[in-house]
Amino acid sequence: MDYFNYKDNELYAEDLKVSDLVEQYGSPLYIYSKATLVRHMHAFEDALKDNRHLICYAVKANSSLAILNLMAKMGAGFDVVSKGELARVIKAQGDPKKVIFSGVGKTRDEIKYALECDIKCINIESENEIDAIEEVAQSLNKVANVAVRVNPNVDAKTHPSISTGLKNNKFGIAFSRALDVYKRIRDSKYLNACGIDCHIGSQMTSGAPILEATDKLLELYHKLKDENISIDHIDIGGGLGVTYGDETPPSPYEYISAVTAKLKEIDVAIYIEPGRAMVANAGVLATKVLYLKNNENKNFVIVDAGMNDLIRPALYDSWMNIIEAKKNNDSKILCDVVGPVCESDDFLGKERKLSVKENDVIVVRGAGAYGFSMSSNYNSRPLCAEVMVDKDKVSLIRKRQEIEDMWALETICDD
Ligand code: LLP
Repeated sequence: MDYFNYKDNELYAEDLKVSDLVEQYGSPLYIYSKATLVRHMHAFEDALKDNRHLICYAVKANSSLAILNLMAKMGAGFDVVSKGELARVIKAQGDPKKVIFSGVGKTRDEIKYALECDIKCINIESENEIDAIEEVAQSLNKVANVAVRVNPNVDAKTHPSISTGLKNNKFGIAFSRALDVYKRIRDSKYLNACGIDCHIGSQMTSGAPILEATDKLLELYHKLKDENISIDHIDIGGGLGVTYGDETPPSPYEYISAVTAKLKEIDVAIYIEPGRAMVANAGVLATKVLYLKNNENKNFVIVDAGMNDLIRPALYDSWMNIIEAKKNNDSKILCDVVGPVCESDDFLGKERKLSVKENDVIVVRGAGAYGFSMSSNYNSRPLCAEVMVDKDKVSLIRKRQEIEDMWALETICDD
C-alpha cells in the first residue's frame, strides 16, 4: 500500500498534488512519500518482532541521503556494496555498527575502510577474498567479523538479470565449499565467523525459493555446529518483490514468518536486506509530455524523462505502471511512452492507453527503487531533482543538477 492516490481526479502524493509539485520543482521529478516508507519499515519490523533481528536496508535500491537518514532514524541497519555506499550511510547518520558489506569485488581499500568503521559484518563472496580480508585485518590488528554468502543453487524464478542464487551466477560461494571455508575462517586469528548469508535474487513474487534456500542455510548451520563453529545470525538477503502491475507477492509478514518458522528451533538472529520492497512503491517519477506524435499508425508520447532518469524499462524490459497526474474523460490512445534520449530502447512504457496532451504530467509508479540510484548523465542530461513529501509538507532532498556540474571534474588537455 502506498500514499499516492487520486482525489477529485488529481493524483496526490500524501496531501500534495503531484502536478503542483512538478510546477514548483520542475520536470522530471522523483517524488517520495515519507508515510509509505515508514509503513514499509514497520511492516518488516512487525514481521520480525518476535526474533532477534536486524533489517539491513539495501542501499543500492535508493541511496539518497534523506532516505538513508529516515531509515537510520527508524533504527534500520544497511546492506552496502561499496565504500561509497558505506560513506553515504555514515554521512546520513546511519550507524556503521549496523552495516553489512556484500559484493563480489571488494577492493583492499574498501575492506580497510569497512574495518576502520567497525561495521557489523563483511559477507565473503569468494574464497580468495578471505586472503584479502585477513591481510587487511592483520595490518590493522583487528578481527574482522565475516559471514559466508553461500550460493545455494536455488532458482529465484525471477528475471534472469536479477537472479543471483544459481550456480552459474557470479555471486556467493558454492554450497559444497561452504563448510571448508568456515573451517578456514575458524583457523584464522584475524577472522570471526558471525553469520551465514545468502541473497538469491530480486523481485521474487513467491516465498517458495527463499524457503528452499533457508533449508540449505539450516543444513549448513547444523554442519557448522557439529564442527563447533557457532553462528550468531542467518541473513536471508533481500529480494521480496513488489506489485508493479498484476504481481501478487507475499506481504513482508507472510514472507518472513514462513522463514522464521523454519528457523525457530535454533538460536540465531535473523538479518534481512530488503531494498525494493522498502522503497519501490514509496516513489514515483513525474514527467511532462513534450510532444505527441504519430508515425504511420503508431502513437508516441514523448516525455522529458528518459532512460538516463529511469533505466528499468530499457534494461530489463520492466513493466512499470504509467498514469495521468490528472484523470480526464477524454478518449484514450494506444501509445508508446518514450524519452528524449537517442536510443530506440529509450522508453518508459509500450502499448499503454493514456489520455494526454502536450504539457500534461504523467507519472511512473513504483519508481522509488532502482530509479534515481541507477540514473546517469547519458546524452549530457542533468540528474533530476528529488522531493520527499510528509503529509502537506515537501522537502527538496536533491536539487536538480546544473549543466556545469556535469563537467566539474573534467579538463581539456594542454596543446
Ligand atoms: N542484498 C544484496 C546482496 C543484493 O545484491 C540486493 C540486490 C539486495 C540485497 C536487495 O534486493 P531487493 O530487496 O531490492 O530485491 N536493478 C534491478 C535490481 C538489482 C538488484 C541487485 N541486488 C532492478 O531494477 O530490478
